[in-house]
Amino acid sequence: MPRAQIELANMSEWVKPAVLFSEAAIQERIREIGRQITADFDGREIAMVGILKGTVVFMADLIRAVELPLTCDFLKVETTKDQRIDISFSPETDFRGRDVLLLQDVVDTGVTMNFIAGHIQEDWKPRSLRIAALIDREEQRKVDCAVDYACFKVNQDGFVVGYGLDSEEKYRGVPYLGTLDKRKT
Ligand code: IMP
Ligand code: MG
Repeated sequence: MPRAQIELANMSEWVKPAVLFSEAAIQERIREIGRQITADFDGREIAMVGILKGTVVFMADLIRAVELPLTCDFLKVETTKDQRIDISFSPETDFRGRDVLLLQDVVDTGVTMNFIAGHIQEDWKPRSLRIAALIDREEQRKVDCAVDYACFKVNQDGFVVGYGLDSEEKYRGVPYLGTLDKRKT
């Protein structure tokens, strides 16, 4: 049984997400982005930093598509009820003077990423900071946020889940990127 069907066989009480990008399409695009990053960072070591939890699958695949030395770290970011964004990260890692590649699952209004990137520039003082996003909804921007590597630019409606992305902690294990009609969840 294909992997996607095994996953969905256990989801009877959930709404099946409509396929937006298949497993094969994702893998092809990750390989392309990996080649681009390899060329752009040629001769350097990348400090890859993933925003938890939505980037764990993305990072697992991307680090195998980049042919350069790299380190992996994660940031935990939470938006509180009063819309404050809290960031926590492992303080033992020193990013000063390093080439940081920040991974995000979805950049929508850009508010979350803009805040994180500003914080990193100020506190970590990296040599460079670039952003890679799995889903870039660039037409939804409310604040400035330049995505350097967008795997998929999405303009259609629908909440995206799967491949690490969740809706209330569900669907992270769905192997493709799919859309949900939020009214049904
Ligand atoms: P922004 O601050 O409006 O750019 O929203 C980005 C954050 O909202 C992401 O880190 C996601 O956690 C979440 N998000 C926005 N849209 C989606 C989606 O379609 N699927 C899953 N998470 C989303
Ligand atoms: Mg989420």
